[in-house]
Amino acid sequence: MQILASAVVVALGLGLATAATVQGPCPSVTSQSTLDADRYVGKWYELKRFPNRNQGMLSCTSALYTLEPDNTVTVMNQGYFPNGTKDSIEGTAQVVDVSKPAELSVDFGFGWPADKPNYFIRQTDYDTYSVVFSCMEFSNVHVEYAWILTRERNADIDVDALEQDLADAGPCPTVTSQSTLDVDRYVGKWYELKQFPNLNQLDLSCTSALYILAADRTVTVKNQGYFNGTKDSFEGTAQVVDVSKPAELSVNFGFVWSTDEPNYVIRQTDYDTYSVVFSCTEVFNIHLEYAWILTRERNADIDVDALEQDLADAGIDVGNFETVDQDDCPDN
Ligand SMILES: *[C@@H]1O[C@H](CO)[C@@H](O)[C@H](O)[C@H]1NC(C)=O
Ligand SMILES: *[C@@H]1O[C@H](CO)[C@@H](O)[C@H](O)[C@H]1NC(C)=O
Repeated sequence: MQILASAVVVALGLGLATAATVQGPCPSVTSQSTLDADRYVGKWYELKRFPNRNQGMLSCTSALYTLEPDNTVTVMNQGYFPNGTKDSIEGTAQVVDVSKPAELSVDFGFGWPADKPNYFIRQTDYDTYSVVFSCMEFSNVHVEYAWILTRERNADIDVDALEQDLADAGPCPTVTSQSTLDVDRYVGKWYELKQFPNLNQLDLSCTSALYILAADRTVTVKNQGYFNGTKDSFEGTAQVVDVSKPAELSVNFGFVWSTDEPNYVIRQTDYDTYSVVFSCTEVFNIHLEYAWILTRERNADIDVDALEQDLADAGIDVGNFETVDQDDCPDN
């Protein structure tokens, strides 16, 4: 992990300009509960990695882990510059806390603290792949690293499943809502412009949400969409959970959602054009994120990039957004 060690130097010395920095603290990605060091050591090749300044030019990168008699692990990382010159760095790795055997501190002589893990093995089958996560915090931002290592170069493994597991790891990110909400201006009809893939809405096109404010100030929600020309619709209610956070609502369609936990967080809306909504639920040690960009008109021509960047700054992977088909809709 020369990357980690040098990243500290880069981050402290040159600023965080080139690394993927995100606001807020590191996400708490849990590691697998056991580690068989004898099976884990040996040679691993990098199949995929998060972009990172120090490794950016290197190809054919590998890591060789050797278990020493004193149970420490020697790490030898190497790779090749475009001009063919080999680059390598040697370090040591050790488990920080025996109760978390898959969380290690790897140091390349740059002084990474031995009591702070910077190498989290999210999951490995020892023989084929290992998914490793790392994160460092600097004041109010953090920098994430991740690698998918394989025993063979260019191994043909189910990368999608490993990536999805990493994407889902840990608790929900904290996405703050806008501080005010004018309900009278917010209600009415919204069309989905973009959304995160969502089991309930898979393959629905022409999706819309209609919010109706009753005299008693409760809000009725009518969602609808079309699948293969057939209309599908859900009706529910929405209510503010905590008056001090008026833009965080609990929307309930009669299933199981609790009314004291928001599942509809309005990140930002201008009422007349767009609304960016985020939602997240935690199940055991994974979380499920949902997000929608709603617009008053179908296929509205708005500055989506700026809205997505705002969510990205809150730590959300906006690469999940997909565009909703709003063409040739049966309703108007
Ligand atoms: C190859 O490229 C690396 C990185 O730019 C540089 O440090 C090294 O001196 C180069 N080697 C040769 C032989 O040009
Ligand atoms: C879509 O609708 C048509 C016409 O009703 C039907 O023949 C077809 O099987 C449907 N396709 C799917 C995937 O349901």
